[in-house]
Amino acid sequence: MSTHNDSRHGHGPRHGSAPAPAHAHKHAHAHHRTDIDWEVMATQLETGGDVQLPALRLAAARLKELLGPDHRVRRILDVGSGPGVMTCVLAETFAGAEAVAVDGAPGLLDRALARAGRLGLGDRVAVRHAELPEGLAGTGAGTGDGEGDGEGGEGGVGTADLVWSSKAVHHLGDQQGALKALAGALRPGGLLAVAEGGLPMRFLPRDIGIGRPGLQARLDVALETWFEEMRAELPGSTAVVEDWPELLRRAGLTGARTFTSLLDLPAPLGGPARSYLHAQLTRVREAASDALAEEDLRTLDVLLDPGAPEGILRRPDAFLLAGVTVYTAVRPAH
Ligand SMILES: C[S@@+](CC[C@H](N)C(=O)[O-])C[C@H]1O[C@@H](n2cnc3c(N)ncnc32)[C@H](O)[C@@H]1O
Repeated sequence: MSTHNDSRHGHGPRHGSAPAPAHAHKHAHAHHRTDIDWEVMATQLETGGDVQLPALRLAAARLKELLGPDHRVRRILDVGSGPGVMTCVLAETFAGAEAVAVDGAPGLLDRALARAGRLGLGDRVAVRHAELPEGLAGTGAGTGDGEGDGEGGEGGVGTADLVWSSKAVHHLGDQQGALKALAGALRPGGLLAVAEGGLPMRFLPRDIGIGRPGLQARLDVALETWFEEMRAELPGSTAVVEDWPELLRRAGLTGARTFTSLLDLPAPLGGPARSYLHAQLTRVREAASDALAEEDLRTLDVLLDPGAPEGILRRPDAFLLAGVTVYTAVRPAH
């Protein structure tokens, strides 16, 4: 059950995985350090998704509550799905539905299919290769009655009862336009759920015994600087007040709500969470080094040293605390 349409790449700090470096970018045009090669990030995105599974499952359960017991969810879109971790969680949560991973990176969609196969979800998980937000056009939204239409004809990804999009909208120049396009893929009465913002991830104590205390707060600042540049360089970049409930209302939706799922992994961390943090810190070291002091770069090098007892792979005090914030709203039934 897989369909590929058309393509792209694009990238975030707390807003997503830390950026992949520009030198990894495979396209011929001029490289910026804010360009992202999503395929290079495949393992990091999937490990990150695996580590966040408890919070993703909570979020999916909450979406099911919000839709209500009588809402027959037949088709779900996960837009900007990456390797399909949440696509599979949604397929598990909504047992009668087809869940479709939509992304511009074919290698990530292949991962989504492989993951679905491993989890025994291959018959209900599909993929669509689409460049956003254009790839959402032609969904036929507005004509659907929610009963089997909107599989996605030429150039579209079809309509759905639930549209989920996590950490993808902030990679598109016109975020309000992107929300309108996502809302346009909803069937009447359907729910749009957008995971954006949330809390910056915490994983180290304030004083880690190396360098100047308060490193995480300074990494946040460096990443915000990177994030701002990344957004400024996106095609059609448009500044907007990131009042997500208001943006959802302006996209024509009603009943905007917000909830946050907590990811709370105390020390000592297991291997996958440590590998994920190591990959995150590697990206920060590469992408945000201009905005960090020499002393902090030296501290990062110790944290990244696989052999160092103070390194993130071995230190006993590393933990993982994160908040996934989800903004939801409904397409009016009439
Ligand atoms: C930060 S990742 C988020 C992945 C996943 N949703 C998650 O929350 O972990 C952003 C995803 O959006 C996709 N993406 C970014 N810009 C895109 C665009 N213009 N068109 C299609 N996909 C895009 C990337 O390929 C990547 O998989």
